[in-house]
Amino acid sequence: MGKSVHGFSKLSKHEKINWLVTTFFNDDEKIKKVIQQYWNTNKVLQYLHDDFIENTISNFYIPFAIAPNFLINGKEYTIPMTIEESSVVAAASLVAKFWRTRGGFSAKVISTKKVGQVHFMYKGNKEELKNYFNSKKEDFYKVTENITKNMRKRGGGILDIELRDKTKELANYYQIHVTFETMDSMGANFINSCLEAIANEFKKPDIQIVMSILSNYVPECLVHAEVSCKVEDLYAENSEELAQKFVQAVQIANAEPHRAVTHNKGIMNGIDAVVIATGNDFRAIEAGAHAYASRSGKYKSLTNASIENGIFKFWIEIPLALGTVGGLTKLHPLSKLSLELLENPSAKELMEIIAVAGLAQNFAALRALTTTGIQKGHMKMHLTNIIKQLGASEEEKAFLIDYFEHKTVTHNAVVEAYKKLAKDK
Ligand code: HMG
Repeated sequence: MGKSVHGFSKLSKHEKINWLVTTFFNDDEKIKKVIQQYWNTNKVLQYLHDDFIENTISNFYIPFAIAPNFLINGKEYTIPMTIEESSVVAAASLVAKFWRTRGGFSAKVISTKKVGQVHFMYKGNKEELKNYFNSKKEDFYKVTENITKNMRKRGGGILDIELRDKTKELANYYQIHVTFETMDSMGANFINSCLEAIANEFKKPDIQIVMSILSNYVPECLVHAEVSCKVEDLYAENSEELAQKFVQAVQIANAEPHRAVTHNKGIMNGIDAVVIATGNDFRAIEAGAHAYASRSGKYKSLTNASIENGIFKFWIEIPLALGTVGGLTKLHPLSKLSLELLENPSAKELMEIIAVAGLAQNFAALRALTTTGIQKGHMKMHLTNIIKQLGASEEEKAFLIDYFEHKTVTHNAVVEAYKKLAKDK
């Protein structure tokens, strides 16, 4: 109980930190320093970040990187990536270079529909409900007119409003299922405002509205990206055999959920990194992607691969509800910069770029897994992290990087090499 607090949100940032340090760290001043060393000296920028969320006490940095050399639909891109895991950006960059000399990536948005639902309970006669819904349908458009006005001007708005009977799944449960086009915005606020207005209009004593909310499952906000080349152009040696192994790796992910989850995690390494860099909501993207991977009733790979008539083809199909306006996209200076780096893409173009980032990541992982194994490249990239943990100087770091150039990196091997270096000095 000594750790509970009332009115915490009303305290100033300093007071919050004092409470934290007193309550959990025995008034250790060092803790304050750890927290404060991440404050930005630019106060305007710090205030901006403070206000993104609540009870902010510091900033948590995630590296911001760029992966050059992507060729997508004939256009060159340098892709911004925000991620804490080593080797992801290197892998993306490597794969971008690889496919650039083989025609690059092609990508196409299949559809851009988003969904929101008013969930309600109703115990009465089904026909009466249907009639009531039909009598209200025009009013739903009318009561949302003010909200949808600007979106309609841009070419979006409400596409469809349906009554759905879900009583087989849950007794007395129905939905008003609404389909939206939100153009360049992710549209969460727009969708939720429309839904709440619709729910309000649908009120009736025998209808119990439970909630009105957008769905992050957007199987009709879908993008396809692919690469292809002659099998012989895929590997320097044993191309036929290695290409087959690559395809088998995808087939295994389709057959075995344990593998599919890791396979898709690798895809999300690339996707989340660009989603975060561009100020989009990676939790929404993650939830939607994994639901899509399970759409057959079994969790499967989000990518596919084939070899037909000597041509290797590798592709991804993934739902991505993204925005290039609204939310943090233009508010966070680095998201704004990311979008500028991508030449201010439309939401559709961003869907294509991000699907490619996911495909590239999966290509890198599968190619490594089916040839050298993942650890070689991963540990090569992780080497600098281990060196830092050991507290090595710049000179020692340079020596160790050089030493491991042609050796397998393991944590132990680095520790041993470092110890030996210290002893030899
Ligand atoms: P390499 O062939 O040793 O690299 O690959 P290299 O040193 O010969 O350099 C070639 C190019 O790679 C460079 O060209 C860069 O594009 C890139 P350059 O810039 O010199 O013209 N590159 C780098 N870019 C930036 N910084 C670097 C860097 N090093 C190379 N330091 C590499 C090394 C790690 C890229 C390769 O081994 C690889 O792609 N491995 C796969 C790594 C991977 O997939 N990591 C994801 C994390 S593991 C995971 O969580 C997912 C997983 O479980 C998913 C699954 O199971 O499916 C694996």
